[in-house]
Amino acid sequence: MYSLETKNQSRTIPQSAARIDHEAEINRLRREMNAVILAHYYQEDEIQDIADHVGDSLDLARRAAETKADVIVFCGVKFMAEGAKILNPEKLVLLPDLKAGCSLEESCPPEAFSAFTARHPDHVVVTYINCSAEVKALSDIIVTSTNAEAILRQIPEDEKIIFAPDKYLGAYLMKKTGRDMLLWQGTCIVHERFSEQALITLKTRHPQAAVIAHPECPPALLSHAAHIGSTSSLIKYTEQRPGSEFIVLTEPGILHQMKKRSAGSTFHDVPGISGGACVSCNACPYMKLNTLEKIYACMKDRAPAIELSPELIAAARKPLDRMLEMSRGAGSPSPAEL
Ligand code: 13P
Ligand code: SF4
Repeated sequence: MYSLETKNQSRTIPQSAARIDHEAEINRLRREMNAVILAHYYQEDEIQDIADHVGDSLDLARRAAETKADVIVFCGVKFMAEGAKILNPEKLVLLPDLKAGCSLEESCPPEAFSAFTARHPDHVVVTYINCSAEVKALSDIIVTSTNAEAILRQIPEDEKIIFAPDKYLGAYLMKKTGRDMLLWQGTCIVHERFSEQALITLKTRHPQAAVIAHPECPPALLSHAAHIGSTSSLIKYTEQRPGSEFIVLTEPGILHQMKKRSAGSTFHDVPGISGGACVSCNACPYMKLNTLEKIYACMKDRAPAIELSPELIAAARKPLDRMLEMSRGAGSPSPAEL
């Protein structure tokens, strides 16, 4: 309880009724708990601005593997927070909203994936990090969009490969590396729904703009791109071309870092295909579940926390460790180092 002086009286109002300064409270809890706040580039601007590190999936996995903090607050989606827990079983890993899933994860149920890999026992199972801990445990090597190509090139030519769960990323990597792979048929609901028609209209209106795309996009969209890469690779590409114009085919949360780092450049996001109640579906509905209020609440309550069995952690850790070993030197430094 605290006191508020008004013109004629002094009245007491409950603390809960007062407006909470979420940013100040998060900073206080971060110090008290010895917490590190990790945020993906698709988070809301205000979340990126309070984070200790903002990065792509690989940067954030590396940060999680290296941190000395006691608590990891993961502002991203569940598979990312699970990755942090697998790399730090003894630490408290908080996810502000446990419903922050991923359509790629949903498209690859562990039971069906287990049956699929069992039918192809002679294949190396290479799995995109956007999957559940259970699917990681069924995999030989995890990859991200930053290191996938470099890791695939290290697998001997005569080895057969299963790639899951993103069929578009898989098809893009097959084209890039010339490797034939057996693809799981998953997709990202955000990247597969960018409107090609809207993209063509934008290109016509801004003929000087370079199209840059995340490889989770379908081939028809990728065919328009001057540069294809992970979120950190797209940011790097724009940073290296100051004073330019870009049409960005990935989740628009990324524009925050692009604008911050290249103030003289112009960026256009691409609308999603309209349909149902959604008029411009280009935001990731899972990433956007996180808010400053929920970050504050999860730190205050020390929940929701990621819980995984020791057996699952041990099994999922092997392919994640293999990824970290096979991608030393790959990717870009996180923004904090730039
Ligand atoms: P990045 O690893 O490129 O950041 O991609 C993560 C993601 O979920 C893309 O949709
Ligand atoms: Fe998953 Fe797509 Fe959202 Fe990335 S943008 S977290 S792949 S649903």
